[in-house]
Amino acid sequence: MKLLVIGGGGREHALAWRLAQSPRVQKVYVAPGNGGTATEHGLENVPLEGVGPLVAFAKREGIQLTVVGPEGPLAAGVVDAFRDAGLKIFGPSRAAAQLETSKDYAKRFMARHRIPTARYASFERSAEAKAYVREHGAPIVVKADGLAAGKGVVVAASVAQAEAAIDAMLLEHRLGEAGERVVIEEFLEGEEVSFIVMSDGVHALPLATSQDHKRLRDADEGPNTGGMGACSPAPIVTPELHARIMREIVLPAVAGMAKDGVPYVGFLYAGLMIDKSGAPRTLEFNCRLGDPETQPIIMRLKSDLLELIEHALAGTLERAEAQWDRRAALGVVLAAEGYPDNPRKGDPIEGLPKPAEDCRVFHAGTRLEGKALVTNGGRVLCVTALGDSVRMARSRAYQALEPIRFSGMQYRSDIGHRALKRGAPA
Ligand code: AMP
Ligand code: GLY
Repeated sequence: MKLLVIGGGGREHALAWRLAQSPRVQKVYVAPGNGGTATEHGLENVPLEGVGPLVAFAKREGIQLTVVGPEGPLAAGVVDAFRDAGLKIFGPSRAAAQLETSKDYAKRFMARHRIPTARYASFERSAEAKAYVREHGAPIVVKADGLAAGKGVVVAASVAQAEAAIDAMLLEHRLGEAGERVVIEEFLEGEEVSFIVMSDGVHALPLATSQDHKRLRDADEGPNTGGMGACSPAPIVTPELHARIMREIVLPAVAGMAKDGVPYVGFLYAGLMIDKSGAPRTLEFNCRLGDPETQPIIMRLKSDLLELIEHALAGTLERAEAQWDRRAALGVVLAAEGYPDNPRKGDPIEGLPKPAEDCRVFHAGTRLEGKALVTNGGRVLCVTALGDSVRMARSRAYQALEPIRFSGMQYRSDIGHRALKRGAPA
């Protein structure tokens, strides 16, 4: 079989690498891919962008299955276009992807189907939004309605900060169309968890739990990023909490989408806040796998990913079982100088360790320049390792990244800190 993975980040490198290991897979094309997918055995990059060229390529090459990594192509309707052309593709339709592409849609959906989330209101006029903020006080969270590449959420510590965020979005149009409507939300305290499932429209198969580290610097300080590292499992998710998340959030979401006439097929990511009493609430839905959560999750996945996806497309996920490595996995992101605001590109990368059974470097912002590997984006690499405990996975990952060098490289030295505080992995 020939497959196609759409995207070019660390998530897509991990997905394509895993898919290529399926005994029935001959080749996995990655569009556009990166410096890592360019050299990985069984993978080949194709420099394609836009829905039309992707459909044309899949037809021409006889691609039997396409898997979509990022939200952009989903929002552009790539799944609808492939299906219309009679091509197999795994991901939600453009309508179903609204769970991520419109926060207002997601909040109304959660209210309608009684899925626990923060209280909210949405606004298009700055004066009304500010009045709401003054009424409720800080801390409070201001979110752009649309996709804003991680820049759309402001957790405001003061009313003034919230008002400034509202003005930036609604009056100054700093986020363009994405910020023409804002959702203002109650601030939730607790510990964040990424809970990702595969859905076939009716059933949901949970993947291993994980935890992201969104802030740039150690101790969760500095600006928000796409994610500076992740580990799996998330020990806070006990078997009881796992069952509760499925019962209160995931299954009602899958059933709710079906009931609303937009069945959800694809990876579904629930970003959750677990409060002190252990109650889960939904911060957001993403219509895709997380990046960097995918890297440690994929390291732990022992089942054939292609088979799982085939079950999801056939509507038989209730018959599928995902087997996980009992070891923990942890990935540390190495980011470029200037990330997240203004990452520098073109710095030569040296000292990459050879892949091992328990450690791999997934590429994101890299590209080949002749034979040399250079940086090509904000998050450059994700060094991901397995270990008998989170602590051991963490030392293995940090040991493996030791020889890696590029000018301006920045990374966090405390990935896994929350999991470690909780002790043994769940
Ligand atoms: P989102 O894109 O909605 O997940 O927001 C990005 C990040 O902002 C989340 O990962 C949280 O760290 C934080 N966040 C979002 N909503 C809230 C909330 N209601 N309360 C506290 N923190 C939040
Ligand atoms: N790491 C967070 C995300 O993929 O949205």
